[in-house]
Amino acid sequence: MPHASKAPAERTAVPRHVAIIMDGNGRWARQRGLPRIEGHRRGVETVRTVTFAARDLGVKMLTLYAFSAENWNRPKDEVGALMGLLELYLRKELRTFVRDRVRLMTIGRTEDLPAGVRRHLAATVEATKAFTDYTLVLALNYGSRTEAADAARGYAAAVCSGSQKLDDASWEAFARHLYTSGMPDPDLVIRTSGETRVSNFLLLQAAYAEFFFTPVLWPDFTKADLAAAIADYARRERRYGLTSEQVNPAAAAE
Ligand code: IPE
Ligand code: IPE
Ligand code: MG
Repeated sequence: MPHASKAPAERTAVPRHVAIIMDGNGRWARQRGLPRIEGHRRGVETVRTVTFAARDLGVKMLTLYAFSAENWNRPKDEVGALMGLLELYLRKELRTFVRDRVRLMTIGRTEDLPAGVRRHLAATVEATKAFTDYTLVLALNYGSRTEAADAARGYAAAVCSGSQKLDDASWEAFARHLYTSGMPDPDLVIRTSGETRVSNFLLLQAAYAEFFFTPVLWPDFTKADLAAAIADYARRERRYGLTSEQVNPAAAAE
């Protein structure tokens, strides 16, 4: 069945959980003859805009890939500057998150982040934990392979302690040990800057996510760009291995 025959309710569907690989800060700066950190600074402004744009557009959870497990291998100065920006961002945003009822959560090995960042993260997560309408998830020192290794360790420990039976192995039982335990899977994954790779981001959780790639560099990404990605998502048919007719019987009968 052509997309045009889909039910209106589906065509206007808004993804509940959007995850974004924010890429292109360095190239944005280079194009202007600026140091890479200027691109990151501008990228933080985009984070502010997009956090509230996503909520305006009806998204319930927004996950932002802010620092990957592999990003530690960048030049020391850049890593230091990124951690400084992150701390500054958290310090400034705490009041905004409380005022606007944004819940902050994290995924990744946050225990390895600098003490100042950890302190602000803990304070913000604690101060916003009761909010239920909208959640911002920061992926910090995140990598899917590290996450899988950590989850395997947690799962094995549960088997050893007897709280998990080895024969009851299932995706659901394993997923309880992922950093994302309790979160819905992403519906839409966006990557900016024209790269079309996943870079170790939510590999297991995005098994049935829709992907949207845009050439726009992250500092230039706007609410209109987000709305365009969501509109594209709304035109797709998610089949989860079924046939189009099974997913949309009404359209098949037309
Ligand atoms: C994304 O921008 C930000 C982080 C990975 C922290 P980049 O810094 O990767 O920008 P490019 O890819 O070099 O342009
Ligand atoms: C992915 O971007 C990580 C984040 C956006 C935090 P990278 O720029 O690090 O990814 P690669 O190196 O191009 O794959
Ligand atoms: Mg990059």
